[in-house]
Amino acid sequence: MAKIRPLSKKRLNEAVNLLNEVFPSEEEEPPSEELPASLNEQEYKSYLSRTTKSDVKYWLAVDDSGRVAGTVGLYCYEKDKNEAFWLGWFCVRPDCRRKGIGEKLLRFAINKAKRQGKTFLRLDTSTDPDELTARRLYEKYGFKLIGRGPHPDASIEKLYYELKL
Ligand SMILES: CC(C)(COP(=O)(O)OP(=O)(O)OC[C@H]1O[C@@H](n2cnc3c(N)ncnc32)[C@H](O)[C@@H]1OP(=O)(O)O)[C@@H](O)C(=O)NCCC(=O)NCCS
Repeated sequence: MAKIRPLSKKRLNEAVNLLNEVFPSEEEEPPSEELPASLNEQEYKSYLSRTTKSDVKYWLAVDDSGRVAGTVGLYCYEKDKNEAFWLGWFCVRPDCRRKGIGEKLLRFAINKAKRQGKTFLRLDTSTDPDELTARRLYEKYGFKLIGRGPHPDASIEKLYYELKL
């Protein structure tokens, strides 16, 4: 079974490549900036100030052969940093799916957020059918839909979810 490890410099490129494959059209908060920013907030100050993010941390699921099998993160937004963490780039490598790795990563992130004293874990996802499995997992773990909004791809909507920790 995959183990969860903090993101490290050694696995940075592999993790960014996986995210670029799974989320090919992400332009606003690209993994190629978000993940390195989590390792070096000083160097990525302008990215963090543009996105109003702080306390960015990422973890990887690493499979038995040492490959990156999935990612999950936590970060704060300036607007609600006193009460909430937000869930960052959550995915599992396509050939590793439906084995429980996603649930393991999600449970891990929920527990981390709980232990750090926030009241809510929030996230945004979308009505994209590719994100249906993720939405089902969020609902299974008690996340409630709290809002909808425009998506850069006008054919779908953003969905905002929240879990009371
Ligand atoms: C969402 C995602 C991370 C889930 O990863 P995963 O490792 O496949 O998740 P799990 O295996 O824990 O659970 C997924 C499903 O497989 C089922 N499952 C888990 N273990 C299983 C097994 N051994 N055999 C069969 N099914 C299994 C779960 O019940 C769940 O079913 P559901 O789709 O009915 O909810 C993955 O599908 C993904 O990367 N999707 C694309 C990226 C994405 O949408 N990210 C979220 C953006 S907001």
